[in-house]
Amino acid sequence: MHANQCEGIQRMSRVSGMLRMMKPIQLFDAASSTFTYVLFDQITRDALIIDPVDEQIERDLAVLREYGLKLVWTVETHAHADHITSAGKLAELAGAKTAAPLGCDIGTAGVQLAHGDTLSFGGEVLRALHTPGHTAGSMSLVWRHHVFTGDTLLIGGCGRTDFQSGSAKDLYHSITQVLFDLPDDTTVWPGHDYHGRHHSTIGVEKTHNERVAGKSEAEFIALMESLNLPKPRRIDEAVPANRMSGLRHDAGGMLLMEPRPAAGPHRGSYAGDVTPQLAWQWVQAGVAVLVDVRTDAEREWVGFVPGAVPVPWKQWPGMAMNPDFDAQVRQAAGGKKVVLLCRSGVRSIAAAKRATELGLEAYNILEGFEGDPDAHAHRGQHGGWRRHGLPWRQN
Ligand SMILES: [Fe+2]
Repeated sequence: MHANQCEGIQRMSRVSGMLRMMKPIQLFDAASSTFTYVLFDQITRDALIIDPVDEQIERDLAVLREYGLKLVWTVETHAHADHITSAGKLAELAGAKTAAPLGCDIGTAGVQLAHGDTLSFGGEVLRALHTPGHTAGSMSLVWRHHVFTGDTLLIGGCGRTDFQSGSAKDLYHSITQVLFDLPDDTTVWPGHDYHGRHHSTIGVEKTHNERVAGKSEAEFIALMESLNLPKPRRIDEAVPANRMSGLRHDAGGMLLMEPRPAAGPHRGSYAGDVTPQLAWQWVQAGVAVLVDVRTDAEREWVGFVPGAVPVPWKQWPGMAMNPDFDAQVRQAAGGKKVVLLCRSGVRSIAAAKRATELGLEAYNILEGFEGDPDAHAHRGQHGGWRRHGLPWRQN
């Protein structure tokens, strides 16, 4: 055999061996017994993380550095009740995009996954399967011959169904019809394990899972109803935080994720006020353009939002009006709604009014980039884009 041919065959067998061996990196949070998974493309180093835990963000960033990975996606299997996600922070610190199941009310996630949707990272693809039961929105995620089952299917068990829109009937269907429909040699990577186990297979769970193997739907429902489990310790804190991708906020829950009509003297003069979190959600979802109306100097010295379009309302020297504002804001909008950001939410109201006169759907971002000054006239401590942990950078 020719030397080149021989080398080619060796390379092919190395590659196919590598593909067979491709496994997720499995990480464990002992406090909540939660597994986090990092998957990546071996060549491009684009990575995806499933169910990251807030307290483990330094560990996860270290893993990304150690393997030389670029985090492209954070993905949740559901809105967790036992830990808080670091998805929002990873979006900020590592530049990842956020994805979550459509039915989980995680409004801050940039991509809302429906059954069958896929996410790409490098040449790799993750596929979402809607597997309701633990919660109504819960999903399992398939990558190559692996399935990440969240709290839908655990090793020898399954997630509880007695809170958070759970349903034993739905869970039985999800496990026996959707997950057990995967090939028997599919590796099962659960969201938790409390007994030191790491993974299983669909084939083993079909025959050995104590909750479902050989059980009828009625037997399964009766078993789930008899569990009488205690309420998760962190549910009241964790679920609302997870609906914001783990970005904690001061007040108001879901109201924060609705625009408020312009009120008082501004009534009717622009489309409304939005929180920084809602503005960022719209931008990530591609439905709005973020326009930064601060001066060039402010963006340079204080910091800027990646992807925002700079259209100063006024400029140094002398804070003169920007004569090109109208043309620039029209061009920035490109047919979408605009969310306007300034230092503390004053100039952005004036700019929103002007953009409205130009025929745009224009919203003011509350609190601005830096928020209100504190008692010592220092900004950045009371509200504002930066304080909420949303993405920003400095040159
Ligand atoms: Fe859960």
